Amino acid sequence: MNLLRKRKGLHASEKALPGKTLMETIHAVRTSDCLDLLRELPSGSVQLIICDPPYNINVAHWDNVNDYIEWARLWLIESERVLSPTGSIVIFGGLQYQSEAGSGDLLEILSYMRRNSRMLLVNLIIWYYKNGMSAHRFFANRHEEIAWFAKTKSYYFGLDDVRVPFDDETKRLYMKDKRLRPDSIDKGKNPTNVWEMARLNGNSLERVGHETQKPIEVVRRLVRGLSYPGSVVLDFFGGSGVTTRVAIEEGRHSIGGDVSEEYPIFLKKQLGNMKGQNTDIFSPPTPFRLIERDEFNLHPVFALVDKEAGEPTEASCVS
Ligand SMILES: C[S@@+](CC[C@H](N)C(=O)[O-])C[C@H]1O[C@@H](n2cnc3c(N)ncnc32)[C@H](O)[C@@H]1O
Repeated sequence: MNLLRKRKGLHASEKALPGKTLMETIHAVRTSDCLDLLRELPSGSVQLIICDPPYNINVAHWDNVNDYIEWARLWLIESERVLSPTGSIVIFGGLQYQSEAGSGDLLEILSYMRRNSRMLLVNLIIWYYKNGMSAHRFFANRHEEIAWFAKTKSYYFGLDDVRVPFDDETKRLYMKDKRLRPDSIDKGKNPTNVWEMARLNGNSLERVGHETQKPIEVVRRLVRGLSYPGSVVLDFFGGSGVTTRVAIEEGRHSIGGDVSEEYPIFLKKQLGNMKGQNTDIFSPPTPFRLIERDEFNLHPVFALVDKEAGEPTEASCVS
């Protein structure tokens, strides 16, 4: 990146991708095993995968897998295959789950990826929150991690869409500094790889009943930064349906799946909450349509295939 700056070049992540005006976004809702869903998708068709997997720590009935990394290896290979060359996968997890707690954690996935995958670790985002469980025998945990892997060096990053405003005092000082450009100051700053965002409390209005539901704010920053309007966002461990909700609000197409029969029910609640909260008449969300299994072949993912993406890459993700 520094070399590019000296040459006054642009990294692929800084180039604007051609945008069309979207008439509507399409959102597939599937009650499906993650691998079955992934295997239906064309290679090179997905811009962003939000991946919040089970970690074998028994937080719920679904959190139990034999031979964890062998199972994870299968969806990691498929994920790499379906990503477009500008695409990324973000994987949620904590590093605190050790020893007797279970057989899988983000550390294990990171170590597997380092040894076996060609995807690039762009950031390990620290999601820091002040509201957490108390502890007496160790330091109470206040962070989780989100590992961002890009499929290629040409990954998309919409920094301007996720900048955070400077506080008033800093802005006032910077505006006086003649070396700084006012338009850059107005744009705000890079949010960095440490994000302070509250976890959902038990009584949060966002909650739809899923045990490990992630906050909209976290998912929104990922969707805004790593995908662009009209691209496809995939979440095959969809849980509460929060990714689909954010994709609708942000004008992305989406494919959401979860093995649980409760998934469509949670998603319905998300859409109900969305209606209740969206009062911005000046910027209405792009119209959207939900499709189920029988209409799946109409999803834009089947039209957005990148011909250069290549075929499944067991070789690039060797066991
Ligand atoms: C950690 S939760 C995801 C929570 C979600 N990110 C949210 O914010 O609501 C993991 C989800 O994976 C689902 N799951 C477990 N095994 C699966 C499988 N083999 N295929 C698809 N989904 C699965 C579970 O039902 C659970 O909802």
